Amino acid sequence: MKSKKFDTKCIHNKKGIEKHTGSVMPPINLSSTYAQSSPGKPLGSYEYIRSDNPTRSVLESFLASLENGKYAISFSSGMAAVASITKLLQKGQTLIAGDDLYGGTGRFMNDFLKPEGYEVLYADTTDPEGFQHWDKASLIWVETPTNPLLKITDIAKVKSLAPNAILIVDNTFMSPKFQNPLDYGADIVMHSSTKYIGGHSDVLGGAAITNSNQINEKLRKVQNDLGSVPSPFDCYMLTRGIKTLSLRMEKHEENASFIANKLKDHDAVEVVYWPGLKNHHGHMVHKSQSSGYGGMVSFKVTGDIDFDKLVSKRKYWTLAESLGGVESLLCVPSKMTHASIDRKKRLEKGITDNLIRLSCGVEDREDLWEDLEEGLGF
Ligand SMILES: Cc1ncc(COP(=O)(O)O)c(C=O)c1O
Repeated sequence: MKSKKFDTKCIHNKKGIEKHTGSVMPPINLSSTYAQSSPGKPLGSYEYIRSDNPTRSVLESFLASLENGKYAISFSSGMAAVASITKLLQKGQTLIAGDDLYGGTGRFMNDFLKPEGYEVLYADTTDPEGFQHWDKASLIWVETPTNPLLKITDIAKVKSLAPNAILIVDNTFMSPKFQNPLDYGADIVMHSSTKYIGGHSDVLGGAAITNSNQINEKLRKVQNDLGSVPSPFDCYMLTRGIKTLSLRMEKHEENASFIANKLKDHDAVEVVYWPGLKNHHGHMVHKSQSSGYGGMVSFKVTGDIDFDKLVSKRKYWTLAESLGGVESLLCVPSKMTHASIDRKKRLEKGITDNLIRLSCGVEDREDLWEDLEEGLGF
């Protein structure tokens, strides 16, 4: 059962088959409390649902294995993971974060961490050597590729510049199928498992995976004290999603490659962002630390097209937030996921009003392209 091959690890796991019944899929264990043989001595391995739960243990075992980590802690959402991980910061310490993060992560840092007295500095982590303050960092928060501009950060380089800080990599966009940041020096890999890990746009979840005993213990305590735990049903849904993660990611990527290359040559398109394109600014760095390019594509359109028609009148591209599901989604970050960022700051980051983000699903690629092309007006 120690296979290192990703496809096998999505299906088989030491916690995969339920011992008492032989159930091939983990049963959903709903019990909120567990019997004790004497006070403080649980009969089995569990005491109370908030502290741990058998269905959650199965999910966490899969997550740890897929990210090449020793421990996984699953949360009720990606944001619950963000909030819980930042509890590793102590008063007076500094968090250095990439300057192109998922809007909600940035908002949490500005609206909660800063007012609580933590120092938060933003860095262009695509050029880690150009940043002068790594020595201040206790925690470093990186997304690679970023949401929505798919900017790439060299994980090992950042770790080498701040070896004593805890480096967190949000790996939501690549999923463990294409990228394992712990292998490149990250201390914690974080996921919004609402996205590719769940894969069907029907479950909310978050995860943190680490090799450090100390970080694991601290995060488990934070999670237990805050209560930011997923329900057994959600754990079941996420484990179910993992079974097809590898297959789905291959198709997401195949479709993204097709769409990105079509967009690249289109007159109504100013620029395309997809790490698989050779002219993508971080293509080589990404290639050195990932085994694929993923299903997310962003692009900017020229001024001449009917933007509303393009984004709202698609047959197969649903206008919606979120990403990573089997269905293709289209999103306008300036009005949706990143609307909470002050417009001036947003424009400085390159999140302009003509930017469109695509989450390429698993439909037929020709259908997807024809639908998009119709909106582009040619
Ligand atoms: C990259 C990234 N990180 C974190 C989150 C937050 O996750 P959740 O919505 O599961 O709380 C998101 C959500 O879109 C995301 O895209």
